[in-house]
Amino acid sequence: MRTLEPMHTCIESPDPDRRRRRLIGAAIGMTVGFAAPILPALAQAKRLDPTPDCKPGQTTPTQTEGPFYSPRTPLKTNFRSDAPGQPIVLQGLVLGTDCRPLAGAWLDFWHADASGTYDTSGFRLRGHQVADAQGRYRLETIFPAVYPGRTRHIHVKVRAKEGGRILTTQTYFPDEPGNSRDGLYRPELVARKTGSDLTFDFVLPV
Ligand SMILES: [Fe+2]
Repeated sequence: MRTLEPMHTCIESPDPDRRRRRLIGAAIGMTVGFAAPILPALAQAKRLDPTPDCKPGQTTPTQTEGPFYSPRTPLKTNFRSDAPGQPIVLQGLVLGTDCRPLAGAWLDFWHADASGTYDTSGFRLRGHQVADAQGRYRLETIFPAVYPGRTRHIHVKVRAKEGGRILTTQTYFPDEPGNSRDGLYRPELVARKTGSDLTFDFVLPV
């Protein structure tokens, strides 16, 4: 509607040049208005810039999946209704070794509940999701408890695309007293605090 107002005004203008300028301006405005919805799609089509924090060629270290992985998880980005606990967000990017985001990457998360127990009969605190066009993922979940022999951690499997090679690993929490006592712990796998969220970028060997 905004573009119609100048056109209406120009019909009343006695100056033909001014009318012509206003008509051209209105036509450009309408063209931009119609083009606007496709601009995000064009932006997604171009290759995204490398992520500055990522070191080219270095992939995320792999870790054992442990005894509690369940395949064929539901699509689920929010685990909070699965079990009571302190809410946390783990979010970040999925990148290739060139440090460019991998749009549409698949991530499958699972972790212990607030008492340190895994659901081995259902899909509580288990679910997969798909990274967005900028390679971003976001998991809303609860703080997992530690269990004997392990420091606090979240398990994950990540792959760039359907049928692609899966990277299995775990991400750890910063400032955990149990980190130094856990033989599986690796400092390269610690998520960083970004405000109240935890951030970890996965780098796949692609
Ligand atoms: Fe575990």
